[in-house]
Amino acid sequence: MSLKTVPHVHIETFGCQMNESDSELVRSMLKREGFVFTEDRELADVVLVNTCAIRENAHNKIYAHLSELKTLKKQRPLVVGVLGCMAQNLKSALADKEPLVDVLAGPDAYRQLPSLLTAALAAQEQGLPEKGFALDLSEYETYEGIMPDRNSGVNAWITVMRGCDNFCSFCVVPYTRGRERSRDPESILLEARDASARGFKQVTLLGQNVNSYRYGDWDFAGLIHAVADIPGIERVRFTSPHPKDFPTRLIEVIATHPKVCKHVHLPLQAGSDRILELMGRTYTGAEYLALVDHIRDTIPDVVLTTDIICGFCSESPEDFQTTLRMVEQVRFDSAYIFKYSERTHTIAARKYADDIPDRIKGMRVAQLIETQRRITLERNRRYIGQALEVFVEGDATRSSSQGMGKTDGNITVVWDKSTGDPCPGTLSTKRIVDASAATLYGT
Ligand code: SAH
Ligand code: SF4
Ligand code: F3S
Repeated sequence: MSLKTVPHVHIETFGCQMNESDSELVRSMLKREGFVFTEDRELADVVLVNTCAIRENAHNKIYAHLSELKTLKKQRPLVVGVLGCMAQNLKSALADKEPLVDVLAGPDAYRQLPSLLTAALAAQEQGLPEKGFALDLSEYETYEGIMPDRNSGVNAWITVMRGCDNFCSFCVVPYTRGRERSRDPESILLEARDASARGFKQVTLLGQNVNSYRYGDWDFAGLIHAVADIPGIERVRFTSPHPKDFPTRLIEVIATHPKVCKHVHLPLQAGSDRILELMGRTYTGAEYLALVDHIRDTIPDVVLTTDIICGFCSESPEDFQTTLRMVEQVRFDSAYIFKYSERTHTIAARKYADDIPDRIKGMRVAQLIETQRRITLERNRRYIGQALEVFVEGDATRSSSQGMGKTDGNITVVWDKSTGDPCPGTLSTKRIVDASAATLYGT
């Protein structure tokens, strides 16, 4: 440990919003035990890396990051902890492969982190090469009673359910985050009221199957309605829902509650019924299209986005054409498009051959991206001339002379800043004067 009396911790977060939210819980639990957080890695006695395992390139990104830490650890004493889905996925094999790792903790084991890190710091001081692992998944852990330490940003993440029981055949999440469990609505509402009192005007409800939320008589429609009713909260978002749990009651809450954003992220994954069946997605293409119609009929101005995987096991050119046709037919506002990446443990890895050559996967991804880009541009252009309410997030990524915010439908808007520009975390109206496939330009 350095000369400082209390250990300084630096945390870096990869992966999805659920990891962002978990890092806030980790900060809270460690601060309670006297650890201090620093934004500066150079000042840290402990570096924590919260990791993702969803595709092989997520793993690769983290290996590259761990190599950077190796250099740092050669220069001075440093405890390195790997948290999250990759730790849970690879377990001790990760520590064997990467000797710099001192502590591994999976998504359900963060309550053990303070003691694991204390032990690792003590072992390091005594020159003992001990490693600490906490990798048990739990059917119950929801981190009840821990108020997240939200030290940055304008949005309050609130995890409402953890884990996933869907076991889509391609997906590692059920193995890294364990069984599905919902949190007590009272504690969710307490957290949302606390966020509002701290000035957060936007809340995003999180879960790998957020709309499968169920606790006693509470369902997701009831929960989102209750959160949106909290005074001071201006926008409520949610991610990621599964198409299987979209009752009319939920669609109607999104349509009618003024504080619930009119944005639905509806992962399609594939268009062909044969592939959807192999993926274990529980809906057909026709059922998905019927749901899209129902959502659009009830919420006319809804922004629809999706996730698609190209090159899943045995995907034929015809299967891919069906996906392409679905994309043309639905006309999503935007889409995340991925190459299939085989994950150990999953049903697909055990039962099906990963038999589409990488080159073909890449060509299919490129073709879909191109198609979606054109559609996104056409969809975005419909806003030109309209005045849209924008939630201001801060500076644009490209230039600090531009401000950036999100529409209700989660589309990025940028504008040239002027004196009296609206503060981050507030709502502001912008007139849209131009549009690209990624951004709307406002004044
Ligand atoms: N719970 C969400 C998805 C979480 S993962 C849902 O069910 O929709 C985010 C996205 O990553 C998925 O929608 C899927 O498109 C993609 N993904 C998951 N596993 C993958 C894999 N093995 N290869 C490629 N993409 C994958
Ligand atoms: Fe993965 Fe499917 Fe669960 Fe989403 S619903 S996290 S894709 S298993
Ligand atoms: Fe990645 Fe785990 Fe999220 S695998 S996408 S960090 S749930």
